[in-house]
Amino acid sequence: MSNDKAKLAIIGAGKMGEAIIAGLLKSEKYKPRDIQIFEIIENRRKYVSQTYKVTSAKSIGDAASFADITIIAVKPGDMKRALEEIGQVIKKGKIVVSIAAGVTLEFLRKYLPKDVSVFRVMPNMACMAREAMIVISPSENTAKEKLELVTSTLSLLGRAIVLDEKYLNLATGLVGSGPAYIYLIIEALADAGVRLGLPKDISIILAAQTTLGAAKMVTETGEHPAKLKDMVTTPAGTTIEGLLALEEGKLRAVIMNAVTKAAERARQLQPT
Ligand SMILES: NC(=O)c1ccc[n+]([C@@H]2O[C@H](COP(=O)([O-])OP(=O)(O)OC[C@H]3O[C@@H](n4cnc5c(N)ncnc54)[C@H](OP(=O)(O)O)[C@@H]3O)[C@@H](O)[C@H]2O)c1
Repeated sequence: MSNDKAKLAIIGAGKMGEAIIAGLLKSEKYKPRDIQIFEIIENRRKYVSQTYKVTSAKSIGDAASFADITIIAVKPGDMKRALEEIGQVIKKGKIVVSIAAGVTLEFLRKYLPKDVSVFRVMPNMACMAREAMIVISPSENTAKEKLELVTSTLSLLGRAIVLDEKYLNLATGLVGSGPAYIYLIIEALADAGVRLGLPKDISIILAAQTTLGAAKMVTETGEHPAKLKDMVTTPAGTTIEGLLALEEGKLRAVIMNAVTKAAERARQLQPT
């Protein structure tokens, strides 16, 4: 490992694998030579290796041998097969990170040698824009320097926090699936703009930037969202009218239900 920068293998270069590669290269801390991929679909393999100039390894073993951190980004159902291959070649002291929804540390541990550090992580697609929320759960007895290395590497892709594994399925409903809910809200805001007569492209920009600004106000001021909401809601003004419509439509209950359903689904995805 050079300059405390870990070499990475991405097993499964699908949507998430690509988002991680794109974000790391955008950070400029990572160069294509620091990353290798292994992907079974030929078209996908060619597309990702040509677009990002990363090496496509001949086998999972080659990729995992090259890397300090092997990130497994295959679907939960393909996890067992990928883990079996990694388990056979991975060397002592290396790190394995799984981003698969619902796949527990206990399941990962079954296939990997004891002296390998194992992490269960839930990121989201915003890795690509380096604004992801990334929840990290280390397995028991993980060395402090391994946790620091994984956290600092993933922090290049957004905001990383360490949480006990018991929260991971819940975080999946919010963090992994959350961007889809926000896209729906942005689309609805933009449609509203169109309904009122704004051109569609302008309306999307207005909706997206307003969403971004509201999120930044929460993260940068540290204020409770309810207080920020009150700050933009004047008595007998425009906003309170809109808020009444949202409450009548039970927006909060609908969103709470959506996250709950997604978290339940994450629990069901655990492979056997
Ligand atoms: N998408 C998200 O927003 C998101 C967010 C957080 C976490 N995740 C997790 O990230 C993982 C990947 O999701 P995704 O949306 O990126 O799925 P995806 O686009 O389908 O990517 C998975 C890729 O891995 C390939 N693959 C499957 N088995 C393999 C193997 N043994 N060796 C190498 N490559 C293999 C797949 O090929 P095949 O199509 O042939 O299987 C596919 O190209 C999932 O476990 C998911 O739970 C996704």
